[in-house]
Amino acid sequence: MLRLETIAEARRWRRAQSGRVGFVATMGALHDGHLALLRRSRAETDTSLVSIFLNPLQFGPGEDLDRYPRDLDADLRLLEEAGADAVFLPTRDVMYPPGFDTAVLVEGPLTQRLEAAHRPTHFRGVTTVVTKLLQVAQADRSYFGMKDAQQLLVLTKLVRDLAIPTTVVPVPTVRAADGLALSSRNIHLDPVQRRASTAISRALDAAEARFDAGERRGDCLRDAAGAVLAAEPLIDVQYVSCAALDTLEELDRVGETALVSIAAMVGVTHLIDNHWLGLPAGLGAPHADLGILPPALRSDL
Ligand code: PAF
Repeated sequence: MLRLETIAEARRWRRAQSGRVGFVATMGALHDGHLALLRRSRAETDTSLVSIFLNPLQFGPGEDLDRYPRDLDADLRLLEEAGADAVFLPTRDVMYPPGFDTAVLVEGPLTQRLEAAHRPTHFRGVTTVVTKLLQVAQADRSYFGMKDAQQLLVLTKLVRDLAIPTTVVPVPTVRAADGLALSSRNIHLDPVQRRASTAISRALDAAEARFDAGERRGDCLRDAAGAVLAAEPLIDVQYVSCAALDTLEELDRVGETALVSIAAMVGVTHLIDNHWLGLPAGLGAPHADLGILPPALRSDL
């Protein structure tokens, strides 16, 4: 696995690739969710590039940048074992050299609701860094997790709006055996908090079960999830949402698709999770036909 540290090195590496390149952007502290992105990339492209950059721009004042887990040696070992071809490891100065003055902003409702309501500068940081990383990677396909649902929708829109020449591929959430969605932040949970946190995925299961049983009222789906969360005192709920994929506006009635999502603090740890309702089956399989995705998840329209 080649280590690329500067933009010039990464560009030279990219120019030398003849086949299709897949790209996975990460902030390190890798787990099986990240490796699922890489596995999908390896199945669908000829060469896979992973970036590790803990992006300060997407953390607001008082958020957990300082506490964000870091273990570069372990990350590199995992990537090597999982078959990454190259890893881009820019420093802060490489990404944001003195005089860096540019921001990329997706405007509109997608970046005003849910996570954005609690973290007003977060998506500006994400879209700025991802734009730069995509410029460097010039990847045919870029893999992002469905666990960060709002991020995935915002980045899909970014790629579409700016005609960035890559296809965004959504990759399903990886969960622990007890249902908890894998996240680098889970490491901060003590055993009692860890157990309590499973209420989040149980709450989403409850909402999805109601949807599968034919319930289409947004309030009823939100209430089904909320009731499970209410029984767990260690969970401090920030939102329970049942929203439209294209705007993330709360739905009175669900049509074909919806995103049911939850954000909560468990102690000082911020957890998010979601279920995508009404998406076609088979999405998680390598070479899945992305044409069957709803428009909000298509970067090629
Ligand atoms: O999802 C993440 O880990 C980050 O938000 C990303 C996409 C790597 C940008 O820093």
